[in-house]
Amino acid sequence: MTAKTKRVRKAVLPAAGLGTRFLPATKAQPKEMLPIVDKPLIQYVVEECVASGIENIIIVTGRGKNAIEDHFDSSPELERFLEERGKKEQAEQVRQISNMVHFSYTRQKEPLGLGHAVLTARELVGDEPFAVLLGDVIIPDRRPATQQLVEVYEATGIGAIAVEEVPREKTHLYGIADGEPAPQPPWGARLLRVRNLVEKPKPDEAPSNLGITGRYVLPPEVFDCLERTSPGSGGEIQLTDALRLLAQEIGLWAYIYEGTSYDAGDKLGFLKATVEMALKNPEFGEDFRAYLRLLKP
Ligand code: G1P
Repeated sequence: MTAKTKRVRKAVLPAAGLGTRFLPATKAQPKEMLPIVDKPLIQYVVEECVASGIENIIIVTGRGKNAIEDHFDSSPELERFLEERGKKEQAEQVRQISNMVHFSYTRQKEPLGLGHAVLTARELVGDEPFAVLLGDVIIPDRRPATQQLVEVYEATGIGAIAVEEVPREKTHLYGIADGEPAPQPPWGARLLRVRNLVEKPKPDEAPSNLGITGRYVLPPEVFDCLERTSPGSGGEIQLTDALRLLAQEIGLWAYIYEGTSYDAGDKLGFLKATVEMALKNPEFGEDFRAYLRLLKP
């Protein structure tokens, strides 16, 4: 480790978006609270943080997002109710949600973009590296993508973003990374040095087909890059644009992470994620598979 390298203890979870792709379901409830099988989307992301050694989670919320805070708060009445009825396991499950990790909240007052949401967390992050996890994407692997990025950061002192191949015709849905292969043990050909990043390019303008997956481990210098970033794609302050500056000024890795991501960011992706997660469920996955087979085409 270099002298400057520090352990990654904090994560920022932007959750201030209006969820317009999910209307009307998100008119009066946060998108992050939509359940995939039996857990809200944001809980999958929090669990990934915990499994990656994160100790402090900073959730960037906005108006109408109180259900997120309530979900991760303790609920003594519910716990007592379950215990009095002998439902110890359920009581323990509910208790664990609030005891998993330390939570802080800050609000983004206006929806000015993902980059702006991350910048809102500056005070709470302070002068140390941190992870960013986007709640639209769930990566339910035993070795979480965030943990893989933390390992790259802690060994090299350079920020890392998770990337994966996306279909050419879908580059306009992602930030796209142009990276130069920088193979080195133990990561081999998975490690690339970022040369350029473009937010949501048209297929014929995309510098590659490596899409940014929504997992980042970044040094605190990214906040200065965000301060200098003007509105970009969609008129919003884009994290991808600030990362381009960071890559030019101090360097950045793109890491082809090991694992599978499910994009629950729109209605079809959400349905696919639900089916995939239901099939993996140890309690009823097999029954669900049998049910799906019965469905007529
Ligand atoms: C955001 C990022 C984009 C990234 C994507 C992953 O876009 O801006 O770079 O590839 O998440 O899901 P959004 O999907 O929020 O429009």
